[in-house]
Amino acid sequence: MPLLEIRGLTVRFGGLTAVAGLDFSVEPGALVALIGPNGAGKTTAFNVITGIYAPSSGSVRFDRKEIGGVSPHRICAHGIARTFQNIRLFRSLTALENVRAAVAAAQRSGLRDVVRGPGWSQREQALEERALELLTRLGLERVADTKADALPYGEQRRLEIARALATQPRLLLLDEPAAGMNPSEKEALRGLVARLREEFGVSIVLIDHDVAFVMNLCDRISVLDHGEKIAEGPPEVVRRDPQVIEAYLGNNGESA
Ligand SMILES: Nc1ncnc2c1ncn2[C@@H]1O[C@H](COP(=O)(O)OP(=O)(O)OP(=O)(O)O)[C@@H](O)[C@H]1O
Ligand SMILES: [Mg+2]
Repeated sequence: MPLLEIRGLTVRFGGLTAVAGLDFSVEPGALVALIGPNGAGKTTAFNVITGIYAPSSGSVRFDRKEIGGVSPHRICAHGIARTFQNIRLFRSLTALENVRAAVAAAQRSGLRDVVRGPGWSQREQALEERALELLTRLGLERVADTKADALPYGEQRRLEIARALATQPRLLLLDEPAAGMNPSEKEALRGLVARLREEFGVSIVLIDHDVAFVMNLCDRISVLDHGEKIAEGPPEVVRRDPQVIEAYLGNNGESA
């Protein structure tokens, strides 16, 4: 039984069809990539899965429950977390404060924990410890007290991932986590993503432009072009698919 199962998803913005009849599923424990040229509909798919947009038609099931059109807050509480293509952090707060806010928000949405939990100061301390633990697991403990906007780009991206993990998701959606990184940061990120799946027991969907980046990382690649899925399968098969090569060369000259 897939953890996430999308069937016939179509998303229209006025006259533009951003996603057209998409079927896409994620098995528990899977690490899959969603790739495609600019404007292919990748982020729109994430925006529907996380409740930012409602589907024009089709279904999105998470853990067998329909979540199409459900609010982002409730979807997060169900166990889906994401990062954004354009980093969204509290820029003037420290790394620790950023993660702490996410831990606190996640705990507020689980009201029973608050009611049954220990006293205020113990709760505050527990929040702090949990936030620090997440930073440590993402290799950011050194910069816990650094303001988010003073961090190098690669660390800001990792901080966003720490924030997403603070909600204890079962499914983690990463929207171009490697964007803007240099080759060595990218290589480190690949290791990190593989580790997240093991250590946090999350299923992961990763958006990227580049087949090479996801090649030895993901179990499966799904390729979107103009809102349609044009290929899907193991990386070594997808990278040789003529339609995939054509989509990349035809759109923006990037080689697949
Ligand atoms: N809120 C919106 N209103 C109108 N059009 C939108 C909206 N969001 C996305 N689109 C359009 O939908 C199409 C798909 O966009 P989307 O952002 O999903 O592509 P993408 O695959 O993530 O591209 P990129 O690689 O550039 O991030 C584009 O033509 C985009 O302009
Ligand atoms: Mg995008």
